[in-house]
Amino acid sequence: MDRKIPIIIDCDPGHDDALTIMWALAYPEKLDVRGIVTCAGNQTIEKTTRNALRMLTFLGRTDIPVAVGAAKPLVKQIEVKGTPIVHGESGLDGPQLPEPAVKPVKMSAVELLAQLLEQSEEKITILELAAHTNIATLFAARPDLIDKVEAVYMMGGGTVGNWTPAAEFNIWWDPEAARITFKTGLPITMAGLDVTQKAYITREENEQLRAQGNKGSVLAAELIDFFGRYHYEVEGFPGCTLHDPCAVAALLSPELFKGEQCNVDVELSGELTSGMTVIDRVNYLSKIMGRKVDCNTNVLFEVDRDAFVKAFMQAMKKLG
Ligand code: BDR
Ligand code: CA
Repeated sequence: MDRKIPIIIDCDPGHDDALTIMWALAYPEKLDVRGIVTCAGNQTIEKTTRNALRMLTFLGRTDIPVAVGAAKPLVKQIEVKGTPIVHGESGLDGPQLPEPAVKPVKMSAVELLAQLLEQSEEKITILELAAHTNIATLFAARPDLIDKVEAVYMMGGGTVGNWTPAAEFNIWWDPEAARITFKTGLPITMAGLDVTQKAYITREENEQLRAQGNKGSVLAAELIDFFGRYHYEVEGFPGCTLHDPCAVAALLSPELFKGEQCNVDVELSGELTSGMTVIDRVNYLSKIMGRKVDCNTNVLFEVDRDAFVKAFMQAMKKLG
């Protein structure tokens, strides 16, 4: 990779969002993080924004503008109470983090997205770690700016669910918004549950991470201590699932993953399946139905877990 990739991170921190921000900022020679926008989801918009600012304060990167994003989905009526069972009452329970040293910028997430895209000479890649409400609002209001986006790397969806039997949390939160993204025609790389549930870090590996000893590694291990409880105790998984970090890893190290180019759409109204990503893995729509459909998404299905964990640990070590 010769040039720095300009990126904007859309997130709802959230432990795995926080780990992804850390991974992205560990590689300033590869990634140019132009801004962070927040969304409600793992917690209320006030809490996820505070958490993004706390992370940047910890990492000494308060130069990165943070804008407050969507407090609610586009259409769905929802009571925003976060996911305390997964991320705690603060949205980032566990480690001691500093209070934010800066405030969010005085513009909305959509305004910041628009400004960053307009002012950039190069196209910008969007790292989508939450519901798509902010970017969908932008794409609907300013379709001219879709061309200024290089690609979308997203965590969300899958052929299985984690918030309902069928739906993954980020897509479930705002299915209408996600559908807008899938219809943009942009190159999309989707790290859904099929791959993220294979991208786990074991307790033993987390101790190795902590033992690296630098501030970044110790914080990452503490975030994983808290986040991992849900994966071990509730989901019964063999490790802590690093959902959102898969999106940045796919951008930095695509060779770690195996994906298939598929048509992906979102179920909006199914009684049991609302918020599910419908992944046409067998090309049913074109082969059997004879419909002209766009294989709009590189859906990641496999990860080299050992290499992924190694790359994650290297990134955390690099943070100093
Ligand atoms: C996704 O939902 C959120 O809780 C996590 O941060 C991740 O983005 C996993 O389904
Ligand atoms: Ca997230």
